[in-house]
Amino acid sequence: MIKVCVFDAYGTLFDVSAAARKAATEPNFSKLKDVWPKVANDWRLKQLQYTWLRAITKNHCDFWQVTQDGLDFALENSGLNGDDALRQRLLDLYWELEAYGEVPQMLSALKTAGTQTAILSNGSPDMLDGAVESANLSDLLDAVISVEDVGVFKPDASVYQLVCDWFDCKPENVLFVSSNGWDVAGASGFGFQTTWVNRAGEPVDRLPHGPKFVLSDLTDIPKIFGTLS
Ligand code: LAC
Repeated sequence: MIKVCVFDAYGTLFDVSAAARKAATEPNFSKLKDVWPKVANDWRLKQLQYTWLRAITKNHCDFWQVTQDGLDFALENSGLNGDDALRQRLLDLYWELEAYGEVPQMLSALKTAGTQTAILSNGSPDMLDGAVESANLSDLLDAVISVEDVGVFKPDASVYQLVCDWFDCKPENVLFVSSNGWDVAGASGFGFQTTWVNRAGEPVDRLPHGPKFVLSDLTDIPKIFGTLS
């Protein structure tokens, strides 16, 4: 019944805090030392809010634009606007975000078991290529699918439909994995089987559809896939 394992990218496979955390260790950007967690949090929050607002107001732009817009808000909110070198460094680091430590082994285990694997992300194709290549994951993924194919962000149902079109399968044949509760809710509502990766021990989102499985990291994804096979 289950046919393919599909992952959200940012926050799920790739650590979106890594850019601000890494820049904060560099001598040129020591002003980030104490505030990088707030900058990272504001950046992510605004980036996501802008995707939702652009989707419902039908004002689509690509994920790189909302990533820059979110960063500009975050820097100003911490009094760090106007530092072009800092802004550029943070943006450059976003193209080479670290994958979470367990990701290569988890994907290898899925591939060894003959599972089809993919990314389904808001990211633009070039951003996703950069992240996948810098984390050396290209050989472990059968497809990297971007919302740019439909020109609207998650959780629009047309985004989740891209997976069914790509793999010629039904929603219930897909295990979708995301660390974003709202993404899991959208995917569950679409009909995917879902796993929410709750690294921070957050409460579940109060949305119409919840996750089928909850994990604290990605290690046990092959096991969950096995139980559904
Ligand atoms: C993504 C965002 C939601 O990768 O993190 O689609």
